[in-house]
Order: sequence, then C-alpha cells, then structure tokens
Amino acid sequence: MTISDQEIKCFISAIKKSSPYDLSDYSYKSLKRRVTKILNDNKLDFSSLIRKISENNDFLESTVREITVNTTELFRDPPVWQTIKYEILPKFKNHESIRIWHAGCSTGQEVYSLLILLYELNMFEKTIIYGTDLNATVIEEAKKGIYKYRFNLVYLDNFDKVMKQNPNNNEVYDVPYSKYLEIDKIRDIMKIKSFLLKKPIFLTHDLVTVSDLGTESFHIILCRNVIIYFNFNLQNRVFNLFHKNLLDNGYLILGAHETILGPLSEKFQKSNHVNIKK
Ligand SMILES: C[S@@+](CC[C@H](N)C(=O)[O-])C[C@H]1O[C@@H](n2cnc3c(N)ncnc32)[C@H](O)[C@@H]1O
Repeated sequence: MTISDQEIKCFISAIKKSSPYDLSDYSYKSLKRRVTKILNDNKLDFSSLIRKISENNDFLESTVREITVNTTELFRDPPVWQTIKYEILPKFKNHESIRIWHAGCSTGQEVYSLLILLYELNMFEKTIIYGTDLNATVIEEAKKGIYKYRFNLVYLDNFDKVMKQNPNNNEVYDVPYSKYLEIDKIRDIMKIKSFLLKKPIFLTHDLVTVSDLGTESFHIILCRNVIIYFNFNLQNRVFNLFHKNLLDNGYLILGAHETILGPLSEKFQKSNHVNIKK
C-alpha cells in the first residue's frame, strides 16, 4: 500500500483537529511508514482510519503513540554511556549541583541508566533530573519504573558492558543488578529500586511547541532517538531550544545516528557522540 503526501496531510490535519498534537513537521518518510503499519495492523482503509481518529479518542491516542515510537532500553548504545560515565559526568564532579534534562525519555529506562551512573560516581544526591515526553502514558510508566523482565533481558547485557567493564584500562567491576533493580523472573518483572524512582521529575512536554520547561538552564540535555522523526525545520527549532536551555560548555547528547545539521551546528562543538555548547 502506498500512502501519498496528500493523504499524510489529511492524516496530520485529522489528528490536529481532534487533539493538541501537531505532526506537521514530522518526517513524511517516517509518517508514511508508520501510517501504513497502522492501516495493516488494524485492517483499515485510509478513509476509515481518518473517521476512527475523529470519533474515538483512545484510538487517536494509541495512533499517536504508534507514530511517535516509544522504543527504549537500559543503557541503549553502551559506547555512548561509557563516554557519559568516563568523560562527561566526571567534568561535573566538583560542581555543587548538576542539572539534567532528558527530552523524549519515553518509559524512562535511559533516565534510570543515567541515575545509576550518577550513583556509582557519588554524584546522585546533587543531581536534579527532568524526564519529559509528549506522551502522558509513557510518562506514567516511567514514574512506576516497572518493566517486563524477559523483554529487557537482552538489555542487561548493556548494563554489564557499561557497569562492569572499563574500556580505558580493561578493569572489570562487580556491580550486581540487585543494587539497582528488583528482578522477579517468575512474574516477569524488572523493577527499578525505589531510591532511584524517587529522584526524577517526570513531566509531559511537547517539543513541537518549543517552549522551555520554566526551569533554570541545564548542564546536560539528552534527546536521543527523537529528532530522527522530525523534519529539518523542526530539528532546527528544537536544537535552538536546547541551545537556549544549556549552560555554556553544556552537553547535548543525541542518538547514535543523529547529528546537528544546519545553522545551529556552528553553535556546538562536536566531540565523540556529544555536542558541547560553544
Ligand atoms: C524512540 S523513543 C526514544 C526514547 C529514549 N530517548 C531512547 O533513546 O531510548 C522517542 C520518544 O520521543 C517522544 N516524542 C516524539 N515526539 C515528541 C515531541 N514532539 N515532544 C516530546 N517527545 C516526543 C515519543 O513519545 C517517544 O517516547
């Protein structure tokens, strides 16, 4: 099934008419792929999809969730987390406090990954960390920090790579999962320990509106695997927002396949997976 640009425009305006979501500046390529999947999964033709979006709010919400892709994992892309652990966080070791914003955090696994590193480095207490996402359902899941054990099992391998190995000197550390995670194999549950759960401030926030959180500026902003779904125009607006909300020499950490192109690229220095505000 091929979806035309005209149909995508019609889809975007149906969503906009019945909700606060504005997908106008999402990448058409990715929208076409996701809308095709929604049509196939729900065995709908295009006009029934548009009708269902306007008539059924739960369907609209689940459609937006499908479109905005909530996939995430603990320590996604271990080399990035090793850079964060061994190169970035130590720079803030002597700061009185450290402020972090994780934009587009989905169900929160990456927020907890960061908190685990901060705890290991004795920097947990002085950290203020925000996790935000467009989607209220994933934010509620992030607050609970309860995940499927079997689904996350493969990602414990990421934990081992980041927590137990030091790529700089081949030292090996013994950090048991039980320090941070409660694992119940029989009930298929992996739960983040409560001292970690209490730390982040999770909020719904839409990057399309490009508004501040109304907070002080940040030392580190992570926005990983989010802008990949935006067009060039929206990417630039969002980079501008992040630039404005970062302290000088603050770090913007994007996904492994994301990079700053366009006018904002001159305002950051790129170094090893990360962008430093000039
Ligand atoms: C693929 S997940 C990335 C999660 C995590 N950052 C990671 O890399 O594992 C993309 C997240 O971006 C969120 N998102 C999409 N559009 C957004 C927007 N306009 N504002 C805020 N979050 C958005 C989605 O709801 C989704 O949870």
